[in-house]
Amino acid sequence: MEEVIKIKGQKLLNGTVQISGSKNLCVALIPASILARDVVVIHNIPPISDVYNLIEILEKLDICVQYHNDTLVIDSSNVKYHDLNMVAMERLRASYYFYSVLLGMYKKLETKGIGGCRLGDRPIDLHIKAFEELGAKFETSNDSYYFDGGKLHPGHVVFDKISVGATINVVLLAIQIKGKTIIENAAIEPEITELFKFLIKMGASIEGVGTSTLVIKGGKPLHGTEFYNIPDRIEVGTYALIGAATAKKLTIKNIVKEHIQSLLDLFDLLEINYMIKNDTELIVKKSTIKKGIIVLTAPYPGFPTDLQQPLTSFLSVNEGTSVIIESIYTNRFAHIKELNEMGANINVTNMNIIIHGVKELNGLVVSGKDLRGAASLVLAGLMAKGETIVRGLEYINRGYENMIKKLKKIHANIELSLEEFGDE
Ligand code: EPU
Repeated sequence: MEEVIKIKGQKLLNGTVQISGSKNLCVALIPASILARDVVVIHNIPPISDVYNLIEILEKLDICVQYHNDTLVIDSSNVKYHDLNMVAMERLRASYYFYSVLLGMYKKLETKGIGGCRLGDRPIDLHIKAFEELGAKFETSNDSYYFDGGKLHPGHVVFDKISVGATINVVLLAIQIKGKTIIENAAIEPEITELFKFLIKMGASIEGVGTSTLVIKGGKPLHGTEFYNIPDRIEVGTYALIGAATAKKLTIKNIVKEHIQSLLDLFDLLEINYMIKNDTELIVKKSTIKKGIIVLTAPYPGFPTDLQQPLTSFLSVNEGTSVIIESIYTNRFAHIKELNEMGANINVTNMNIIIHGVKELNGLVVSGKDLRGAASLVLAGLMAKGETIVRGLEYINRGYENMIKKLKKIHANIELSLEEFGDE
């Protein structure tokens, strides 16, 4: 038996959704907090499986963790080195932030590799190259990674390509190395800017926050602090697309307008009926899309790749032909086969998704194969005629807090159900 999401589609939704804390920020805040060797309190941490895996890793390092009502209290006063040859490391990609943290603290690390959604090639060469620029040595054998930080030194890192994870990882290492490190072509996602604010509150010296050139004066003593996680802009975008496709009126509370500007620009072009209230609420109403559009996914402030999949579902029922150019991942397309089986007319050539709008989708059993892909199939199910069963609930639970509960609250006909499939 498998727990799945059962949806009866084409219901007009109505109501309010409260946005949770950012997944991609909290997965960096949690490993970074160890650097304080002190008590760190972080609010607005969503109860998603990535967070529970990170807590398991903290506990392996003898760190004391309390997690109540979305507040995480991390006491790393007694932190101790342990090898991280554990399954939790392989369950998410962001576990690689432990590499820089522990390498700087203990000058060594033996660990398992990382996990994360399969979206095509996701190497970590930029991380390793940047660590090596700062004097680290790296080897791999039998699925384990070995880092040696005996000769760490400050340096000058110029990224060949913009990477969220590599930017964060090299900063987490550089702030621990005495002296000045310069980083160029850094990513500038809001999650990165906020992480740097957190590190600065802990005592780190980072100049150039919010820009692509960072100057770090490393080796400053760090201490405990209290911090508020920001709203998850990808969750905002997912519900905004759900609202534009299916809602009489959907109020999305707890947003940061600046973080979703590329989505709002797209809504303007598509003439979607929306309004921003008090800079913290986005109100969206179901809108008929009469024309196609061309969208390029790109690093922030461009349109986020993490919304490409929900946007594909949204544009599949439409009067025009749209193209989404997926410029970040070589294979973030697993949702498209499922959408086509539901009646969509979508082709992928190279990394271009060509969406010929159809009149409607039909409910079916479909399988999510990654986090945002599974969310995009939930959106498709809400739009489709009849019953849709979405498999791959474990992916949704990795990144969306209580998605089914939140959708039920806005009157979606959606529930969890235990089903048996022939392939088990
Ligand atoms: N890349 C390399 N080498 C590297 C690192 C990245 O070639 O060493 C490539 C990647 O394969 C990709 C591109 O560079 O083609 C950008 O990857 P990036 O490193 O920016 O992505 P990430 O840090 O692995 C984070 C988010 C992703 C989000 C991307 C892009 C976290 C934990 N994950 O991943 O979030 O898609 O940035 O914005 O922060 C999601 O939330 O569903 C998700 C996948």
